Amino acid sequence: NNNRTDIDHNRIKIHRSERLKPIVPNKDLVFGRIFTDHMLNIEWYKENGWHDPIIKPYDKICLEPSAMVFHYSFECFEGLKAYKDKNGKIRLFRPEMNMKRFQRSAARISLPSFNEKELFKCLKELVRLEERWIPAERGFSLYIRPTLIGTQESLGVGPTTRSLLFIICSPVGPYYKTGFNAIELLATTENVRAWPGGTGDVKVGGNYAPCVKPQIEAAEKGYQQNLWLFGEDDEITEVGTMNCFALLKNEQVTPPLDGSILAGVTRDCILYLARSWNEFKVSERKITMSEVKTAAEKGRLLEMFGSGTACIVSPIKGIHYRGLNIEVPLDSNNPSNQTGPITKRFADTLMGIQYGEIPHEWSVVL
Ligand code: COI
Repeated sequence: NNNRTDIDHNRIKIHRSERLKPIVPNKDLVFGRIFTDHMLNIEWYKENGWHDPIIKPYDKICLEPSAMVFHYSFECFEGLKAYKDKNGKIRLFRPEMNMKRFQRSAARISLPSFNEKELFKCLKELVRLEERWIPAERGFSLYIRPTLIGTQESLGVGPTTRSLLFIICSPVGPYYKTGFNAIELLATTENVRAWPGGTGDVKVGGNYAPCVKPQIEAAEKGYQQNLWLFGEDDEITEVGTMNCFALLKNEQVTPPLDGSILAGVTRDCILYLARSWNEFKVSERKITMSEVKTAAEKGRLLEMFGSGTACIVSPIKGIHYRGLNIEVPLDSNNPSNQTGPITKRFADTLMGIQYGEIPHEWSVVL
């Protein structure tokens, strides 16, 4: 249909809120609980495509109970952050990667495609409008959540004829209440997060809800996160909602993007940085629990961590696996440290780039 339109930033309408909310002090921020004054909405109709983007006061979405998103999980999302550097400039971090992945996620669940560059322009418009919400303190940022849902009123299982793309923003600090502290994992052997041919490689809401029950069970046993395994040989896949890295003597390992691993932006950065340091072998390969267990026993397991946009890196200090407690070293030179030296180096380098202290093309000034 040639009459269909794509997202067009030039047609954006902005309705400013007349009553701005008070800014919440950084110390009171709980991840993803506070939302800014405005949101971006763009509606899509099968007949004529994307309608005009509109920025308006943050508000409820009105949908019929029969809207497809409520029944069959027609939902995908992104997560990226805006930072304020010491000169007061707003910076985004590799946002084009999030736009691309958003597109891939949408395609996987038959939601409409869109012009990523135009969407990005609209996103920037929203972030500029919400500037006063971007915390200026290191470790804090404005978390941006683009979301796409199927809104057609229909209980039939099929592609949606209507969609809503919206973006909301939330000022955030550390993802975990415990801050940058090492976490202990429960290796989950009863449930799997993703499987070959499934949706583990895209950011769809349907991947997350089923992981909460195992997460509660882990928490009840005193573990902060699940370590997700797959297959008969208990391959490591992800940790909680993060990608997983193991540092062995002379080799850094993370599972390959084989279709069940989310292509994390932070994961990609860590691989790039590690390769540019050229100090150890950097592998994207299968790694099993038995390899980790043996490496730990032989002193060849140096560090482990999770990586994600929300927490950047999250050091791991132990894994409970099939009745066994595997201790993961943090810092052999300073046992009171909550992170290993390489994990910390990744965190410091990434934060340095994100806050504009280390010049890098990944950090995009708005
Ligand atoms: C992450 O950045 O680690 C995420 O997966 C986002 C999370 C809030 C779902």
